[in-house]
Amino acid sequence: MNDEYFDTNRKNWNERVEIHSKSKFYGLEKFKKTRNSLLRLEQKELGDVSGKLMLHLQCHFGMDSLSLANMGAIVTGVDFSDKAVELARSLSKELAIPANFIESNIYSLTEHLTGQFDIVFTSYGVLAWLPDLENWAKIINHFLKPGGFFYIIDGHPFGQLFDEKFKDHLRIAYNYFTEGQVEHYEDGYTYASDTPMKNKTAYEWRHPISSIINNLVNVGLTIEKFHEYPYSEYKSHPMLFKHEDGYYYFPPEFPYKVPLMFSLKAFKKEE
Ligand SMILES: C[S@@+](CC[C@H](N)C(=O)[O-])C[C@H]1O[C@@H](n2cnc3c(N)ncnc32)[C@H](O)[C@@H]1O
Repeated sequence: MNDEYFDTNRKNWNERVEIHSKSKFYGLEKFKKTRNSLLRLEQKELGDVSGKLMLHLQCHFGMDSLSLANMGAIVTGVDFSDKAVELARSLSKELAIPANFIESNIYSLTEHLTGQFDIVFTSYGVLAWLPDLENWAKIINHFLKPGGFFYIIDGHPFGQLFDEKFKDHLRIAYNYFTEGQVEHYEDGYTYASDTPMKNKTAYEWRHPISSIINNLVNVGLTIEKFHEYPYSEYKSHPMLFKHEDGYYYFPPEFPYKVPLMFSLKAFKKEE
């Protein structure tokens, strides 16, 4: 069944590649000049990446992978969208920033990639597309060198429970504990653009924080840092507005602070 969900999601993501590459949200033309699409949190929390072998999971069309490569990392980006990988490879060539891009579902990555990495990295909008965090954590552990670390920054599952229809208050509209149930969406738009999409169908999954943490711990990783942030990487609720640091905040008069993003760094023990 997951294969059918993945096929549908791949079609949806393939269509998003062109839309995203033309969107203000992604700012591809600006990226070609600055060569850095990373936001401040992951830059600070990753630390110096120069000379590091990095595996970037769900890399989309490679702007962040190429940013890391431009900072001196030796980067392999992975995505299951052939259109995303095609654009990532062409940007790598156009900008003369070397990086390796692989088209693969992350669950079958061991069939397409060998070796181990100092850092496994994944960011912003990744977990919602994954039905199973147990195998996700196994893949991360498989590709991490002993002594290396895994880093993720993504939407906080609590911050994704609210009804997007209400513009002046928060109202819970979704379950936090979904027991791995799939959610079916027919949105017709991506978060990054007003351009309508033909491939509207998407399947997503919610994962409580405990599941994210426990699956990483269960494969033997040691969690060094876990942070929660009251702002988001995208306009996940109509009340949020964009700040000059690139993140989306509640207006200052809004009385509640709720977590909208989390980040986590976990080490693999030396042998
Ligand atoms: C929101 S994007 C990643 C965000 C990235 N930080 C960015 O904005 O450039 C999610 C990516 O996950 C990819 N994806 C979704 N499910 C996947 C899977 N099972 N295996 C590999 N890639 C997947 C999509 O193709 C998409 O490029």
